[in-house]
Amino acid sequence: MNQAEPLLSVRGLQSYYPIRGGVLSQVTGHIKAVDGVSFDIFPHETLGLVGESGCGKSTIGRAIMHLETITGGTVLFDGEDTSSYTWKEMRSVWPRMQMVFQDPYSSLNPRKSVESTLTEILRTHRIVSPSQTAEEIERILRLIGLPPESKRRFPHEFSGGQRQRICIARALTLRPKFLICDEAISALDVSIQAQILGLFRELQGQLGLTYLFIAHSLGAVKYLSSRIAVMYLGKIVELAPTELIFSNPRHPYTQALLSAYPDPNPENRETEKIILPGQPPSAANPPRGCHFNTRCPFRQNRCGEEEPELKEEPGSSHHLACHFSITRSDWKGIKA
Ligand SMILES: Nc1ncnc2c1ncn2[C@@H]1O[C@H](COP(=O)(O)OP(=O)(O)OP(=O)(O)O)[C@@H](O)[C@H]1O
Ligand SMILES: [Mg+2]
Repeated sequence: MNQAEPLLSVRGLQSYYPIRGGVLSQVTGHIKAVDGVSFDIFPHETLGLVGESGCGKSTIGRAIMHLETITGGTVLFDGEDTSSYTWKEMRSVWPRMQMVFQDPYSSLNPRKSVESTLTEILRTHRIVSPSQTAEEIERILRLIGLPPESKRRFPHEFSGGQRQRICIARALTLRPKFLICDEAISALDVSIQAQILGLFRELQGQLGLTYLFIAHSLGAVKYLSSRIAVMYLGKIVELAPTELIFSNPRHPYTQALLSAYPDPNPENRETEKIILPGQPPSAANPPRGCHFNTRCPFRQNRCGEEEPELKEEPGSSHHLACHFSITRSDWKGIKA
């Protein structure tokens, strides 16, 4: 168990998008993108967040940053309850939490050199005195593995991997404690992905950073994360140390998700690839009870009525939201 105080504590977080209709564009319903999610992230650790497209991963990251509305629940960051902060109040929080996105090209201003992008941030936030600006930019470029001369170049003069390094540099200029990486390696070639993952790990060691690492690539999440949260339709269904998620996944959805991952350890490969039937239900109208029940081959009546809470299993750090105890061997002979 981790005895330190969490850097980020999220409790019952909800983030809904209004659905508008009719000639007056009234609100006719909500997309429940994040629907009651709780987790902690401890200083210097990486929590990986996985789950199929549309399950609400980015919305969690954006809601923590207040880039999406927090409909309900609380976000405690660095000792402050930021849940009801206005944008003005968030200005003192943002430098401590930064986000790195998937597409490095569209998140950089094409008309600004690296130097002018970083100088503007350093000046606006008074991170260093004007006389120290040049030295600070060189220090940041060294940190992210680019030569000092790159400061005069513009975004289009870099490769995709180098551009992502610059996005990371921009985030680090504010000296944050916490980085939310949302598919930060997904747009890169596989060999470049490995380099950027290595960089994230190095930076964590050097700067003591804490990460929420959102990615589709299970291999990348495994490499970087100390714990992994698995999401399905706006909820976390399982959360456990990385090793346990891979060696002993307990939720049928996690088991299906991992079955597509060719784990290098043969002991972790017990099932055939599981193809879940159908599509995830709409987040505007999630099923009653367990959100996964409409696609779960182990469904029983209770699952359609009673929503399972995410609970810590006694004596372990494994959190599970399922009424039953399903193992991978239970899938044998099941046609999903
Ligand atoms: N701006 C928006 N307005 C309305 N609905 C949205 C908006 N952004 C996302 N959604 C919906 O909210 C749900 C969660 O979206 P989100 O982007 O958080 O998913 P995700 O897990 O990050 O998916 P992906 O893996 O594809 O990035 C989806 O149903 C999506 O369609
Ligand atoms: Mg996303």
